[in-house]
Amino acid sequence: MDLISIDDLKDEQLDWLMAAADAYFVRNRNGAEVEPRLHGKSIITAFFEDSTRTLMSFEVAARRLGGQVTRLPVERSSMTKGESLKDTIWTLQAMSPSAFVIRHNEDGAVARIAGWTDVPVINGGDGAGQHPTQGLLDVATIRHKLGRIEGLKVAICGDIRHSRVANSTAALLKRMGAEVRLAGPAALMPAGHDGPDRIDEAIEHADVVMMLRIQRERLEAELNDAPGEYLARYGLTEDRVKRAAPQVLVMHPGPMNRGVEIADSVADGPRSIIRTQVEMGVAMRMAVLQLVTG
Ligand code: NCD
Repeated sequence: MDLISIDDLKDEQLDWLMAAADAYFVRNRNGAEVEPRLHGKSIITAFFEDSTRTLMSFEVAARRLGGQVTRLPVERSSMTKGESLKDTIWTLQAMSPSAFVIRHNEDGAVARIAGWTDVPVINGGDGAGQHPTQGLLDVATIRHKLGRIEGLKVAICGDIRHSRVANSTAALLKRMGAEVRLAGPAALMPAGHDGPDRIDEAIEHADVVMMLRIQRERLEAELNDAPGEYLARYGLTEDRVKRAAPQVLVMHPGPMNRGVEIADSVADGPRSIIRTQVEMGVAMRMAVLQLVTG
């Protein structure tokens, strides 16, 4: 199977992933040994866009389950000699991998790649499209902390327009019964949306607040924000956190722009579970690799 978007998952698969990731999370934290369920499997990672968390956690996850990982060094590959993406994938496919994990800066590119190969493809993020494993790990992290998703009020704030994280995480949260509130500056909201930015309203009594990075590399026009202006108007400051539920969970998929969408003291504060998201990222990718390689 391919995992291009959350919609590729049936309800039973989703339930299995949530339970398996939770079990791996606990075992990883305790340093417990895990069964080599990917023994004999080889995973190829090909990231045509930069990454720290997603790339490293997939590779750590595969190795922790006894799989072999080979990374395509994109900037040293024959693509610099003009080889096409399609020929690159055909070449890698001839090496008989058990799965590909692919990130690309164009919307829809990973789905296109999946159409060229019979090898299972996992989407590690495509442009402003989808990022299914981020959606899965975000929801699993909330579920791990609060024991449920149904009925929770979740605010996702910032650069919604360019965020594949917002697309995948919001879709999965809604599917599992949460109330999702999206808010951001008008210029960073999806096309067709205008009107007030409603950051403060979105955060009001929220059980979870997830902040997103301004993806300046995907902006059509400069924001021209003065230093400190974004944080004051739209960022998660200690004052804004007080609007949320007292036990609010503060999340961020990373990488953070500290002092822009989130204040340092909030990112490092007692309500932040940003590092727990990273831990769950490894656990969820262990579960996803196992599901996809059958
Ligand atoms: C995000 C991404 O690459 O989509 N990060 C991640 O995968 N954890 C968000 C971002 O780049 O801002």
